[in-house]
Amino acid sequence: MKGSPVTVAVYLPSEEKSQDWCNMLGELLPGWKVEPMHAVSDPSAIEYGVVWRPKTGDLAQFPKLKAIVSIGAGIDHVLADAALPQDVPIIRTVGTDLTQRMREYVALHVLRHHRNMPDILASQAKSEWNQIVVPPATRRKVGVMGLGNLGKVAAQTLAGLGFDTHGWARSPREVGGVTCHAGTEGFDAFLEGTEILVNLLPLTGETRGILNASLFNKLARGACVINAARGPHLVDQDLVDALASGQVAQATLDVFHVEPLPSDHPFWSHPQITVTPHIASMIDAPTGGQIIAANLRQFEAEGSVPDLADARRGY
Ligand code: GLV
Repeated sequence: MKGSPVTVAVYLPSEEKSQDWCNMLGELLPGWKVEPMHAVSDPSAIEYGVVWRPKTGDLAQFPKLKAIVSIGAGIDHVLADAALPQDVPIIRTVGTDLTQRMREYVALHVLRHHRNMPDILASQAKSEWNQIVVPPATRRKVGVMGLGNLGKVAAQTLAGLGFDTHGWARSPREVGGVTCHAGTEGFDAFLEGTEILVNLLPLTGETRGILNASLFNKLARGACVINAARGPHLVDQDLVDALASGQVAQATLDVFHVEPLPSDHPFWSHPQITVTPHIASMIDAPTGGQIIAANLRQFEAEGSVPDLADARRGY
């Protein structure tokens, strides 16, 4: 039997949140020792790091690290650590809670754009009875970029609402009710005529900056763009230009190059942009805690879990 407890260090970009997560994980993992990263008693004893946006070098101080847990589906925030210990497995936190939240967010904003709510609200502000009649969903081409856990469920949700739903991924996929396109050869056909585009791609060297002028120009004129993946997917100035020219009519952005979005950033007050503060699929602590505790227990017992990320691939 093991003499000393399994030891976990937790980091979130607020000491209070780190402490809350420690308390919760401590309760879910009886017999384990869970400490906030800023107050670790013995770095040489830490076996697991549970992190959201760790600071560069934080994880490198633990020589016995067995695995790193990303509090979230993406691992880009972990890979951003230039001193990240190599060859330590990274566990993603995914589950029905995340996919449910993302399908709600995508449905909400696609429907909002589909039914032209920004114009309806602008009319209300002027007491104008403006009966905007939109085409049926079946004639609205919507496109979901990225068909992983989140993208697949989002695309199925849109198909279930009756949209002409298309999906695009790096490699060929099959999703019921969704017309799937793959790779660079399928990209233009996917974009052509798309009126509402949803980005749910992982952030990798290949996808950084993918939401750019060239892509916007391939969409239907007056398209709407929803980015619920990562800020660096978007070339900000290209979006501003596309909004000014009318090539893109509206955008909903949940993620940004710098988060929190600085209070003087022009996106906050741009009339064609809806800003949400990275909440599309932000896991709540109790649900995330359950998933993470289960993954940690399984990794400790078996040396692996199904939701291991591939650091070379970037997701
Ligand atoms: C949120 O952005 C996540 O990666 O889960």
